[in-house]
Amino acid sequence: MEQTSYALITGASKGIGRAISDLLIEQGQSVIGIARNPDPTFKGKLFLADLSDATSRSQVFKEIAQSFPIDRLVNNIGFNQLQGLADITAQNYQKIIDLNLTLALELTQAVLPSMLALGQGRVVNIASRSMLGRKNSSVYAAAKAGLVGFTKSWAIELAPSSITVNCVAPGPIETEMFNRNNPIGSPGRKSMMDSIPMNRLGDPREVASAVVYFLSKGASFTTGQTIFVCGGASISQQHF
Ligand SMILES: NC(=O)c1ccc[n+]([C@@H]2O[C@H](COP(=O)([O-])OP(=O)(O)OC[C@H]3O[C@@H](n4cnc5c(N)ncnc54)[C@H](OP(=O)(O)O)[C@@H]3O)[C@@H](O)[C@H]2O)c1
Repeated sequence: MEQTSYALITGASKGIGRAISDLLIEQGQSVIGIARNPDPTFKGKLFLADLSDATSRSQVFKEIAQSFPIDRLVNNIGFNQLQGLADITAQNYQKIIDLNLTLALELTQAVLPSMLALGQGRVVNIASRSMLGRKNSSVYAAAKAGLVGFTKSWAIELAPSSITVNCVAPGPIETEMFNRNNPIGSPGRKSMMDSIPMNRLGDPREVASAVVYFLSKGASFTTGQTIFVCGGASISQQHF
């Protein structure tokens, strides 16, 4: 009997991570998620850990990597806190870099032995349209641009091992994180909406479709690529 392999998704219980998990599960695939809070409606295996804590994340990554054959990884969790250049604090800088970049590096390193042993792998990093430039979000923009650098470099290193690495860069997508950073009625939310050629926010499922393509067997000759799922915001002349 063929051994079941798993897709591992950080931040799998809500928003974009949840949409990716649901779509994979609908297709009959086995999913492991990580989040801080339990969610009885989650249909895969959900591990609980606060990934902003270096000790907790090293423990949970080790536990998952030792217990399950993982051949697909989605580095989905991210974090932003709006701050103008003059107000960026060292603490905020570190948290944004850790949750968008360090986490992706550590988790990819943790599951790499499993992918190498299975002789195949798919890594998808979730960046953001903000990497093209966004007011009051320079650290986030830099971290997400850094994920594209990781994507291209890992793609080159891992191509000979049949492991692909790609990136999906969403534009404004209506999720808990989006609503927290861009409250309804705020000027920032309005200017964002005005800059989206499609004149609406995206749905997490619209991002999940692109991620699931990169995770699929059919995407085996596609690596190092970034696709924007942003209603045209990445080609708009208006800035957030
Ligand atoms: N939404 C957008 O408009 C947008 C646009 C561009 C890019 N993105 C990127 O897309 C990704 C997903 O964003 P989202 O909007 O879907 O977020 P979200 O709706 O806020 O969901 C975040 C998920 O991550 C978990 N999580 C958050 N912090 C965690 C932590 N410290 N440790 C463990 N789990 C944690 C949450 O569960 P718990 O709360 O239970 O921990 C939840 O499952 C991020 O990388 C974000 O930067 C989003």
